[in-house]
Amino acid sequence: MPVYHSLGAIPPKRHTQFRKPDGTLYAEELVSTEGFSSLYSLVYHAYPPTIVKTLGEPYSVEPKIAREKHLKHTSLIGFNVAPEDDYLQSRKPVLVNSDLHISLAAPRNSMTDYFYKNSQADEVVFIHEGTGTLKTGFGNIKFQYGDYLVIPRGTIYQMEFDTTANRLFIIESFSPIRAPKRYRNQYGQLMEHSPYCERDIKRPQDLETHDEHGDFKILIKKQGLIYPYIYGTHPFDFIGWDGFHYPWALSIHDFEPITGRLHQPPPVHQTFEGNNFVICSFVPRKFDYHPLSIPAPYNHSNVDSDEVLYYVDGDFMSRKSVVKGQITLHPGGIPHGPHPGSVEKSIGKESTDELAVMIDPFRPLMLTEDAIKIEDENYYKSWQM
Ligand SMILES: [Fe+2]
Repeated sequence: MPVYHSLGAIPPKRHTQFRKPDGTLYAEELVSTEGFSSLYSLVYHAYPPTIVKTLGEPYSVEPKIAREKHLKHTSLIGFNVAPEDDYLQSRKPVLVNSDLHISLAAPRNSMTDYFYKNSQADEVVFIHEGTGTLKTGFGNIKFQYGDYLVIPRGTIYQMEFDTTANRLFIIESFSPIRAPKRYRNQYGQLMEHSPYCERDIKRPQDLETHDEHGDFKILIKKQGLIYPYIYGTHPFDFIGWDGFHYPWALSIHDFEPITGRLHQPPPVHQTFEGNNFVICSFVPRKFDYHPLSIPAPYNHSNVDSDEVLYYVDGDFMSRKSVVKGQITLHPGGIPHGPHPGSVEKSIGKESTDELAVMIDPFRPLMLTEDAIKIEDENYYKSWQM
């Protein structure tokens, strides 16, 4: 998020001597993206971030593709993904392409004996159920139901959950996650017509400096493999940092819906973008107020884009028998639309309490073996009169 932020102690000038009370130097690290051309931060560590003690054997977490090509409206029952103790093992990629991976997870336990770094993708972790704290060297972010945690690649983190009941919807993006360009002015500031603004962004707080030596396991993801690294110093040994590159959060409940006299197109719900996909938020809102308006969406041929909806809460007006945590995938190439009866039913309604996350990838998604396990095989017939 292009907002300058700083926590802890930093020297007045970059790349200058910055000394500990004992006279030795802190270790400066530039964390930069897209080479040196995009967002970056300068971090001051108690110790150099380079002290590797040992390397473990890498192992694959590459999604196993079950259906590479398909042309079928598909539904996945997300809450049928079984809870698992470990955070990383609980993450089940279900829909993937070369731009993004979409995963579901129901982790029971906090990460206590290892840290995680995704070096290949930015992560957006949507908190469907659960509360806790995202812990990073940049500081901590408390999270709750409805938060999108945006964790830029290269950020070492731990998830600390308050209870064992957690449901997460995770997007790994192989390009940087950004606020939509049309909502930002030439300086990056969110403009007046944006559905959210900088005040809604939760930035890291409560910098904890862990000045510790020992054996610290960091599981680093790169090119579909997890590399177990043992470092000799605690990864959260930041004395201070400043810059524009850090984890942040936005609550879906702070997304202000754009409404109109007539049905508004899906781009009004756009919240984030990556290369070749967008992420949108469908939130409770007043319905269209033209006297002859039809609040339910029209039938729609998305000829060159797949559409993924993740149902979070509320009564989704265009669908029948939708459950929390359900995913629908409407592939590009064939039309989809409201379920029978829902158009007439929507007329005269003044508002909706639906809450959902939508992802429109511009390249087709593949289904994984974990997706097939939770598929509702008859969903494609659900438009029959
Ligand atoms: Fe659509």
